[in-house]
Amino acid sequence: MNQPAAQNATPYGTLPTASNPATRKPVSLPRLLEMHARGEKIAMLTAYDATFAAVADAAGVDCILVGDSLGMVCQGLSSTVGVALDTMRYHVESVTRGMRRVQGTAWIIGDLPFGSYHESKEQALRSAAVLMQAGAHMVKLEGGGWTADTVRFLVQRGIPVCAHLGLTPQTVHALGGYRVQGKTAESATLLKQQAHELQEAGAALLVLEMVPGALSAELTAELPHCPTIGIGAGNGTAGQVLVLHDMLGLNLGKTPKFVRNFMAALPGIAGQHGIKEAIAAYVTEVKTGTFPDNNLHAW
Ligand code: KIV
Repeated sequence: MNQPAAQNATPYGTLPTASNPATRKPVSLPRLLEMHARGEKIAMLTAYDATFAAVADAAGVDCILVGDSLGMVCQGLSSTVGVALDTMRYHVESVTRGMRRVQGTAWIIGDLPFGSYHESKEQALRSAAVLMQAGAHMVKLEGGGWTADTVRFLVQRGIPVCAHLGLTPQTVHALGGYRVQGKTAESATLLKQQAHELQEAGAALLVLEMVPGALSAELTAELPHCPTIGIGAGNGTAGQVLVLHDMLGLNLGKTPKFVRNFMAALPGIAGQHGIKEAIAAYVTEVKTGTFPDNNLHAW
């Protein structure tokens, strides 16, 4: 703790001191690429509001993803398809305000929701601008093939882009459910081709969701300029991401196989260990490569 506790005190709650500016430098794109080059794993976690973003930052996450998963965990929707751009703007603003108040250092990624980038590259630019002006450092979009041109268009205009392949929740209806992707030789070849196209287009990060561990490890080795961030993709990726509520054991439905409940995994008496410690345990396990366990959390 480097700031007086009172500094962030309000009548409605006290944001934790997130990071020590003297010892933790703000995470930037070059730093993420450097981390990847020297083999340090990237720890990413979702957060949707000021307090949880500050707690995640204080616990040491490198990147905060303001994911459209907020549609399911915050809004109670049955998929992410119904999330609006203005809702994403609201949550990105909330997260960035919280981060500013505690001088947080994490890299903030805003998720472009369904329908906000599909029409044209120009529409994608307008939508990305909304999230960047709300405080995001980078935007994320789902899918391969046609998205490569959109990624190139955004990157050329100074917007860092995180791509997302494998199980892409915005197209869950077309995919026929939340299923592992890239299991057949044909689909694995297509996924690899799309990943290379996205790297070539300038995507700076690539989320791989529900992809066989062997395939994502191979891809990670093939993409030196585009670190892969796995979720249900084994431990051979350059980093990991989980949905905050899932890793705190707050899943309202069936917990996916790739999730570990880090609250349940904490030792000690209730009250002595809390959310910050659970997130810190997640960060440590990602960095040391002990989470995910390929025997438990991967395909
Ligand atoms: O919306 C989200 O939280 C995501 C992660 C599951 C990667 O896209």
